[in-house]
Amino acid sequence: MSDTTSIIIFGASGDLTSRKLVPALFSLHRKGRLPEGFHLVGMARSDKDSATFRAELQAVPAPANPDAWPAFASQVEYLRGDPTDSAALARLESLLSGLERAGGGAANRLYYLATPPHVYADIVQRLGAAGMVDRRAGWRRVIIEKPFGSDLASARDLNHLLHQVLAEEQIYRIDHYLGKETVQNVLVFRFANSIFEPLWNRNYIDHVQVTVAETVGVEHRGPFYDQVGVVRDMIQNHLMQVVAMAAMEPPSSFDPEALRDERAKLLRAVRSFRPEDVALNTVRAQYAGYRAEPGVASDSCTPTFAALRLAIDNWRWQGVPFYLRSGKCLAAKVTSIIIQFKSVPHVMFPLSPGKSIRPNTLSIWLQPDEGMHLQFEVKIPGTLAEMRSVDMDFHYAESFGLNAIPEAYERLLLDALQGDPSLYTRADAIELAWGLVDPILQGWEQSGAPPVLNYAPGTWGLAEAEALLARDGRSWLAGDVEH
Ligand code: BG6
Repeated sequence: MSDTTSIIIFGASGDLTSRKLVPALFSLHRKGRLPEGFHLVGMARSDKDSATFRAELQAVPAPANPDAWPAFASQVEYLRGDPTDSAALARLESLLSGLERAGGGAANRLYYLATPPHVYADIVQRLGAAGMVDRRAGWRRVIIEKPFGSDLASARDLNHLLHQVLAEEQIYRIDHYLGKETVQNVLVFRFANSIFEPLWNRNYIDHVQVTVAETVGVEHRGPFYDQVGVVRDMIQNHLMQVVAMAAMEPPSSFDPEALRDERAKLLRAVRSFRPEDVALNTVRAQYAGYRAEPGVASDSCTPTFAALRLAIDNWRWQGVPFYLRSGKCLAAKVTSIIIQFKSVPHVMFPLSPGKSIRPNTLSIWLQPDEGMHLQFEVKIPGTLAEMRSVDMDFHYAESFGLNAIPEAYERLLLDALQGDPSLYTRADAIELAWGLVDPILQGWEQSGAPPVLNYAPGTWGLAEAEALLARDGRSWLAGDVEH
């Protein structure tokens, strides 16, 4: 008797399966980390057989180790069908039971919803009705892709519908930013070193900047993106989770719920936007040319860039602004957290007129060129007391070699297979994050709200985003840090 573990991907003919999920599973296979008795079943409406599905998958990731592919591919099946059709699910059940009978032990299943979001609830309800998430024969888990809802009300409804069928511990809401090695390293950096955490508060930190900038536009996703925009696509999920990792209190243990409690607690402490804050503390803009993208409305007001000023109401962060920005078609692909420390309280050096001492910064580069940079002042040799900023840095590639960092999906899939939800978003956290962005989205809808501005592709956005910080005597740093 041996156990079987099946991953069933609904919506398997989409990009995500070939670009992310299968390469991640194949990499786990090569590392010997997939469970014994593993099967992958792709289900989608396209008409093809398993052999064609395997051939398509092999062509996309260009496996680094082609010798390992046949063994992996032999565990891959394809089933044509629509998961919102109970008859198709019955065919899936009989395929899975056949595979599971051959093992004879526990029959574990991980369902991956890579379908359009509007069918998530329907699929889960049908799985429930068919007894396919019943845990008596083995564990049964469901991964749900983003977007999880489009506002607080829809996220709550979705949670409610899911909870009619599934226990919370069966639900894995994915946010691939939490699977990024460098985002997880924020925890190790903060809580496995004793020198930084004592400084990690309002006594020493002036402000924090989180930038998630992309150079690409909406590419082929115009119809989807035009419905969501940058706040729903990036800020509600990825940026909020990065802020939570950087700002949360130390969890008491590495236990999944202890970690998730602290992330949720932090989100609960972020100050809600009142209608009057929206105009003052947010900027939204669209790159020039966006309206001509395929699938985008010619009069679209969907923002492709947003900048926000957040306040966190707790003892640690009172008075420390968190500036967030994210956008498409910007000057560089950069994801960074920059901590700017306070200026020295008194300058004893005879500085030349107009000179000041640059405050220290700690930059955590989440991607690309993953690493950390601590910037501090040194004396320029041979001068009386002139100074310059220098950088103490760490690069993953130098310390661990190129390609040392696994893809986010690899870690996340492995965690779901092992039943570890630490890096998945719990129902309360997802609702808290929606509760924070909803007032912004609503404020932008009000008449009299500042218009959606335009910015030139390939730049760092616009004067208004600079002004958001300039008003506080600060400026964005990610664009001008050389590394
Ligand atoms: C996705 C968004 O969640 O994240 C995309 O839907 C975005 O619009 C992508 O491009 C960015 O992810 P990464 O890992 O490339 O930073």
